[in-house]
Amino acid sequence: MVGEQRDVEKHHFIPEDYFCELKKEALFDGDRPLELDIGCGEGRFLLEMGQHYPERDFLGLERLLGRVRKVCRRVERLGLSNVKLLRLESGYALEYLLPKAAFSRIHLLFPDPWPKKRHHARRLVQAATVPVLAGVLRPGGEFFFKTDDEPYFLHAREVIQTSTCFEEIPWEEREIFYPQTDFEEHWLGQGKAIYRARFKVTT
Ligand SMILES: C[S@@+](CC[C@H](N)C(=O)[O-])C[C@H]1O[C@@H](n2cnc3c(N)ncnc32)[C@H](O)[C@@H]1O
Repeated sequence: MVGEQRDVEKHHFIPEDYFCELKKEALFDGDRPLELDIGCGEGRFLLEMGQHYPERDFLGLERLLGRVRKVCRRVERLGLSNVKLLRLESGYALEYLLPKAAFSRIHLLFPDPWPKKRHHARRLVQAATVPVLAGVLRPGGEFFFKTDDEPYFLHAREVIQTSTCFEEIPWEEREIFYPQTDFEEHWLGQGKAIYRARFKVTT
């Protein structure tokens, strides 16, 4: 591998064993707050968070290799040592690979909404996945959810509220630094409404 490619690849986290739960230390050294961006896409949110919070670590989870490589190149260009990418299907990663009770915050921003009824089972937020999301969060950890798709939003909020894993907490617009994502910018440009909710783990 040539030097420049190696510099980019170091931001791409490749587990030694895909069948074993990772240890938090395998992702980043030290015990700094760790955040997870599920389906990070082209990484605008992830990179801005990494720049804004140098004292925190960020893992972007994305299934498309081209996007992972693009974000890794940007991480290298920005000189960020607190952002890494994992290329994997999120359901598998959350259930089997990511360390339990390790993340301070999870961000699920503009996930594929799967609007057709027969595809609803493909949505990430389901009654069965809510405890899995809660399981990778530290005590007091938070789950942030944003979408332009109202039916998905209402469904997700209902299944989360029905579970006993989370309580919804307020999310005022300017209360916390929370950069726009690529998709958010796109949908806002089209005049669409954005739905958001913030939950705190109770388990
Ligand atoms: C609609 S885009 C949103 C990207 C980004 N969060 C944003 O708001 O700009 C959804 C992203 O999630 C990724 N994705 C979809 N399903 C996934 C899965 N099961 N596991 C990992 N990534 C997934 C897609 O490849 C895509 O990059």
